[in-house]
Amino acid sequence: MNPLNSEVRSQIEQFLRDRQGGDDLTKMCFVFFDADRAKRVHDEAYRRALEFVTIGGIPGAVMEFGVLGGWSARIFCEIMRDIFNLNDIYLFDSFDGLPEYTSAIDRDSYEIGGRNIWSGKMKFPADWLKQFGQPHQWHIRDRLSEVIRPERIIVRQGFYSETLKATPQEKVAVAHIDCDLYQSTIEVLEGLHRGNCLQDGTVLLFDDWNCNKANPNFGERRALRDFLQSQRDFTATPWFTYGWGGAAYILHAT
Ligand SMILES: C[S@@+](CC[C@H](N)C(=O)[O-])C[C@H]1O[C@@H](n2cnc3c(N)ncnc32)[C@H](O)[C@@H]1O
Repeated sequence: MNPLNSEVRSQIEQFLRDRQGGDDLTKMCFVFFDADRAKRVHDEAYRRALEFVTIGGIPGAVMEFGVLGGWSARIFCEIMRDIFNLNDIYLFDSFDGLPEYTSAIDRDSYEIGGRNIWSGKMKFPADWLKQFGQPHQWHIRDRLSEVIRPERIIVRQGFYSETLKATPQEKVAVAHIDCDLYQSTIEVLEGLHRGNCLQDGTVLLFDDWNCNKANPNFGERRALRDFLQSQRDFTATPWFTYGWGGAAYILHAT
């Protein structure tokens, strides 16, 4: 199917709606107040990143760290389909919520030490998940397989401290880092570096850049700073910001 043929696409979408029954977790926006606006804002940001790597000849996969119900992953898949980016997408998440707060940087942060805003550790209630009839990571993969081919969607379930011990054997073109914590973010950056996945031109999209009052001593801002100071292979320049909290950076090989 030509992904730009809107008539055929709406027929397929109608067919899938009729066939599925039940809810589609990847279409539920849990994080933002206004789902339509959030979709527009994030679509534009991800589209800029994907066009940059696709047209600019930066090979490799999209890797998402922080999947939750697959809302942002769906946006990535839809854009990849639309712009003929035929690479893989990796979905890294515990699918069981946030890890223990092992870093004092997180425990002392405004969001945890101060407001404890993730007291439920961002975990879906088990009873609620039963409606999907299968472990929700497989529900997410199946729903996204209606957008791009299933073999391109690689689910890595578990905490990053485990799943990044063996990194994908390919470069990352776009890393979407939406895992809230300093500890998780630094594990992602160090893991991708150790696994030789980073390259000249890799785009880093930080969804939580302005969390913690945008204070550079916490969260994703602190993690990028610490990562850049810890190695000499890459520098980074800021590219654009999006929404109230997101920021895009481009990595440069030295
Ligand atoms: C804000 S949610 C992601 C939202 C998603 N990108 C969206 O737009 O719908 C953060 C996710 O990061 C995951 N996460 C955070 N730290 C993690 C870690 N160290 N290992 C695995 N998953 C982690 C949590 O399980 C949670 O699902």
